Amino acid sequence: MSTAPAAVPIFDAARIRKDFPILERQVHGQPLVYLDNAATAQKPKAVLDCIARVYTEDYANVHRGVHTLSQRATELFEGAREKVQRHLNARHSHEIVFTRGTTEAINLIAQSYGRPRFKAGDEILISAMEHHSNIVPWQMLCEQTGAVLKVVPIDRTGTLVLDQFEALLSNRTRLLAVTHMSNALGTINPVEKLIKQAHRHGVPVLVDGAQAIPHMAVDVQALDCDFYAFSGHKLYGPAGIGILYGKEELLNKMPPYQGGGDMIRRVTFEKTEYNALPYKFEAGTPSIVDAIALGVAIDYVNAIGIEAIAEHEHRLLAYATEQALQIPGLALIGQAAEKGAILSFTLNRIHPHDIGTILDHLGIAIRAGHHCAMPVMDFFGVPATARASFGFYNTFNEVDALIAGIRKVIEVFG
Ligand code: ALA
Repeated sequence: MSTAPAAVPIFDAARIRKDFPILERQVHGQPLVYLDNAATAQKPKAVLDCIARVYTEDYANVHRGVHTLSQRATELFEGAREKVQRHLNARHSHEIVFTRGTTEAINLIAQSYGRPRFKAGDEILISAMEHHSNIVPWQMLCEQTGAVLKVVPIDRTGTLVLDQFEALLSNRTRLLAVTHMSNALGTINPVEKLIKQAHRHGVPVLVDGAQAIPHMAVDVQALDCDFYAFSGHKLYGPAGIGILYGKEELLNKMPPYQGGGDMIRRVTFEKTEYNALPYKFEAGTPSIVDAIALGVAIDYVNAIGIEAIAEHEHRLLAYATEQALQIPGLALIGQAAEKGAILSFTLNRIHPHDIGTILDHLGIAIRAGHHCAMPVMDFFGVPATARASFGFYNTFNEVDALIAGIRKVIEVFG
């Protein structure tokens, strides 16, 4: 299914925006300025068309029928898996497991990798900048197994303290689970280095790639990570579909996460024989069309080019940061040297929800809150931040609109 746009030789956000129908709409009578991409990204027409087309022309259940539509749907579904495999440069397509999203992928690893292995006193290492979805599943696992959660601290810029990381790695460490890019701070972690060090201690590594995947090239073989998780909806694809990459050798040793249809080879009342990878981890009817549309989103992103995207977003962030720092009373939360396109801030004593509400009336969508990273808020001593997060379709004019909007907020609150 070839739905990708023609390659864009020079980065042209105005041209790209035409592919996103929602960006044409107005909010409160103002043109929409969508700066909540870290929460979820908007969808190009190619993805929307794919969803309508598959349901209209090619829809049936996968892996189950000999009939034409089932075979066609299976072909498209498995084709999407291969697109994900190529996108991540995984060695095998059966190392790609479809999940509901990053959260489910991490829970799968906790319950299927961790639970049968970890014992009282074993340690799971995470970082202080993790999203709740890379904290809570490990706490649940600790309750179940007696394992202990250890946290690598961050400094006031929102950068991981690497000396502490080394100090916390020990012969009790059984897994490192770390974000590639922080959703609350924008920090990009040196995951390649962390993985190398963890592996020196024989510790496998799960990378939470939910925020990183829309902004940078990810090569799981080059990283040598053991597991990598991401969500489709942040990569301009549908919500409700996500990916767990795992090394074949590890996935093969893990029991299924859920039982049900499609994950079995043979069932009797006495015993069930499980299916091969990746189906062993895909119980029940999957989100068929969403998976196919995720493949289309990946084609779309690759047609623009991830390097060009990274460059454009880097410039947007640099411009937004420079402008924001000129606003009296604005404090940036997250000033790591390596940062993705996220601008998290507080403004005097104005509550971020008030900032978000006033900006919304100007048509500007940002996220205000704890961003599912309460420990990060606690560390910085704030209840919440306002967060503008950029995607490749954002423009410098939109940064200007944000900055003007923030100045308006100050005016309103005196
Ligand atoms: N984790 C998403 C965010 O950062 C929802 O907004």
